Amino acid sequence: MNPRLSMCRVLLIACAIGSSLLAAPAGADFGQTSTAPINIAARDAIDLSGEWRYIVDPLKTGVVRADSSRYSVFRDMAGPENPIDFFEYNFDAAPRMMIPGDWNGQDASLTWYDGLVWFRRTLELAEVPDSRQLLHIGAANYKALVYVNGEKVGEHEGGFTPFAFDVTDKLVTGRNSIVIGVDSEHGNNSVPTPVVDWKNYGGITRPVHLVSLPDTYVHDYFIRLGSDGRLIADVRLGGEEVDGHIVKVTVPELGVELRGESDKSGNASFTIDSPDRLQRWSPASPKLYEVIVATDEDEVADRIGFRTISVEGSDILLNGDRIFLRGISIHEEAIGATPSRAINVERARELLSIAKQDLNANFVRLAHYPHTPAMTRMADELGLLVWSEIPVYWDIDFGNADTLVLAKKMQHENIIRDRNRASIMFWSVGNETPQTEERLAFLGELIDDVRRLDDTRLVTAALHNVRSEGGVRVVDDPLGALLDVVAVNTYQGWYGGMSLERVPSVQWRNPSGKPFVYSEFGAGALYGFQDPDREKFSEDFQVAYYEATIEMVKKAPDLAGVSPWILKDFLSPRRMNWKYQEYWNRKGLISPEGNKKAAFSVLRDWYDEIALQGDDR
Ligand code: GCU
Repeated sequence: MNPRLSMCRVLLIACAIGSSLLAAPAGADFGQTSTAPINIAARDAIDLSGEWRYIVDPLKTGVVRADSSRYSVFRDMAGPENPIDFFEYNFDAAPRMMIPGDWNGQDASLTWYDGLVWFRRTLELAEVPDSRQLLHIGAANYKALVYVNGEKVGEHEGGFTPFAFDVTDKLVTGRNSIVIGVDSEHGNNSVPTPVVDWKNYGGITRPVHLVSLPDTYVHDYFIRLGSDGRLIADVRLGGEEVDGHIVKVTVPELGVELRGESDKSGNASFTIDSPDRLQRWSPASPKLYEVIVATDEDEVADRIGFRTISVEGSDILLNGDRIFLRGISIHEEAIGATPSRAINVERARELLSIAKQDLNANFVRLAHYPHTPAMTRMADELGLLVWSEIPVYWDIDFGNADTLVLAKKMQHENIIRDRNRASIMFWSVGNETPQTEERLAFLGELIDDVRRLDDTRLVTAALHNVRSEGGVRVVDDPLGALLDVVAVNTYQGWYGGMSLERVPSVQWRNPSGKPFVYSEFGAGALYGFQDPDREKFSEDFQVAYYEATIEMVKKAPDLAGVSPWILKDFLSPRRMNWKYQEYWNRKGLISPEGNKKAAFSVLRDWYDEIALQGDDR
């Protein structure tokens, strides 16, 4: 049997064990939940960002030979007692890289590396804090093995969502060793599989914090307007004794103060009529309120916007008014010739300001995985509606029960983390998935879960199975019946042989009558390549493509919005054409460095036109 296979099986079992280390809050009722308390930035925490030492472990020896002190990297031993002996690893002499950050952009030898890398950081503690200590990791792509002072504290699978482990009894006075092994390798039953059209940035891509919490703490909360416009607050406590704690939710600017007691599962819920002077959040006026969630021991402050989202026939309504989604798709990749996956507040503002201010967009599709909180919070601030998605991308193993458990966990982690973000309008359960019974059952379960976790947003998915009937494109994928909004990816005139001249006359039919969104369309262009004959990959072709496609889209039935593919050229291992691509997907409207291609203004002009018509709030 292939040892690597047995090692994978070991990892999966460890995953299941690991996550039970941090007792999920008593209120958790869906069998598995996010281990990570939310809104870490507002908590009392040590930010462990900075230089970490790293050891590349191509054969995963540190896992396979975990029983041997010679190879067990995670023990982070200085060396064997016997001075003439030695270990096969040594962190103190190892190179350093910045965390958060992907390894691909920081070590040229790892540009395309998929595998295991061990990261170590030491932490000096004058004394062990007497409060609960959680080690919180914003995200690590793809599997993470976490050790404190040589002891395993947990495992996590999934590259784009947060997780945390209780390390209270692992810390010591003086030097503490934190070792995180990150394996970026994906398998056939991972989510996604290895075959994706984006760069698989490996590493600890979002911040790591050591969070101090009282014994009983605010784990997560969900504060929003219900579909009837009433103000609802659900708070869930974490820790052991969660029963009978005073729970308060205040919105000082509105004079709202809700007070109650947690029940035996640590939950407290409140519903009141919204104060008349509550100003609704919208892209045009992204009003956020300070909200404080407190117990007798803990307090967390957040900035939350209040709005309602609903569907009426083929219209999407925001705060009861019809809205047209002037969107753009975005990958989580910073602007620059050698981009990074690690997006901080400044980089998020840079990307989203181009969408908001320069393109006049009111909507962004954050593809194809949960982006960093810096992006969704920036969308709250700037006033951009958001499509949030988990990486159920193309052909994952829909028939595999473990894969379903994994996808559900990723979705839970994403929704728990971000359901207080006013900007998020859509939870998407997948992109371009095959039309099979297994897939329908799989996504059906995910959709049920979304609706249980959040009944205030719309559920969707990016479809691509389009039937042709007499030349008319018919979108009747059975998955559409389970969605609130039907979205389709289409590349007429780019992939396949259709000429641009024919594109405007392509007709669409949407039997569901639900709101219809083009979640993707686009064409490649190499910035600076001009060709009046419109060779593909020229800016001229991209301009003509957008003009033709916008003509086609305008005639579509029930059209509620678009999110063309894509704002910025992005790296992808599938783009091997050295004449135009050099591993860049060139469908961006801006180049890797942020230069606007000619087609950028074609889309902007259309959005200006729509905004002038005023069906935008
Ligand atoms: C697909 C897919 C994207 C991909 C795009 C493309 O539709 O969803 O992830 O990058 O097409 O081909 O450029």
